[in-house]
Amino acid sequence: MVDMKRHGATPEAGAGTVPLVEMRNISISFGGIHAVSNVSIDLYPGEVVALVGHNGAGKSTLIKILSGAYKRDSGTIFVNGEEAHINNPRDAKRYGIETIYQTLALADNVDAAANLFLGREILTRWGTLDDVAMEAATRKVMGRLNPRFQRFKEPVSSLSGGQRQSVAIARAILFDARILIMDEPTAALGPQETAQVSELVRQLKSEGLGIFLISHDIHDVFDLADRIVVMKNGQVVGTARTSDVTEDEVLGMIILGKCPVGAVPGPGALQVAAA
Ligand SMILES: Nc1ncnc2c1ncn2[C@@H]1O[C@H](COP(=O)(O)OP(=O)(O)O)[C@@H](O)[C@H]1O
Ligand SMILES: [Mg+2]
Repeated sequence: MVDMKRHGATPEAGAGTVPLVEMRNISISFGGIHAVSNVSIDLYPGEVVALVGHNGAGKSTLIKILSGAYKRDSGTIFVNGEEAHINNPRDAKRYGIETIYQTLALADNVDAAANLFLGREILTRWGTLDDVAMEAATRKVMGRLNPRFQRFKEPVSSLSGGQRQSVAIARAILFDARILIMDEPTAALGPQETAQVSELVRQLKSEGLGIFLISHDIHDVFDLADRIVVMKNGQVVGTARTSDVTEDEVLGMIILGKCPVGAVPGPGALQVAAA
């Protein structure tokens, strides 16, 4: 197993373990706005790294660069220690990077299997849809995520928020994703469904996936994340192991850009004049 003991920004005890993803010195501007500025983050197998910060901090933009939705102006991305050439979503998927957006982007009027295989259907050797194979694969992956799920024949519009979330995750991991990006996965869910998503995240983590989790909910973050990266104004304020910081300290990072002793400061940390 992976040794998870490491410090905020740079792995130490984790040395020798290659990060699943490393984004190094990433920048992108829109017009005059530096949406993401010289950001470096990494992610290890079996790890959940939370990205937090106010609206407009640059979290979604950073993650869209990793998922190939935006093209960075500068910086380098490494996957499994090798430079990755990610210029569109297809490239990202080839590197095992899948994204689940808040909207889930499900096709509401068809069932789970049809959603999982949308655009990449399994065909029989006669070129017709292989519904049997697709349903079997769907049952297998859903069984892994949500063993109680039984509503395979129903359109996903009739499913609960948590069930819809598991369909979206099943679709993401079906083709062997190793790196999962979740942008506000529980923003639209009630407490029970949020708990279900947390369960899914733990399951994927135990299978060795790496997860970038963007969340506004500081409790979710402390519940799920191994490390926390705080962004402000497009820059990293600091990176910390969750166990090394308190919720108040993370709020101080988010609001004031103040980096506590338990965190490794980034380029966006508030510079405190020496006394
Ligand atoms: N496609 C875009 N065009 C212009 N500006 C953008 C675009 N996407 C993001 N931005 C700007 O980049 C900054 C960071 O936004 P975003 O990454 O969405 O922040 P967060 O996800 O942390 O709330 C904001 O100032 C936002 O207005
Ligand atoms: Mg966002």
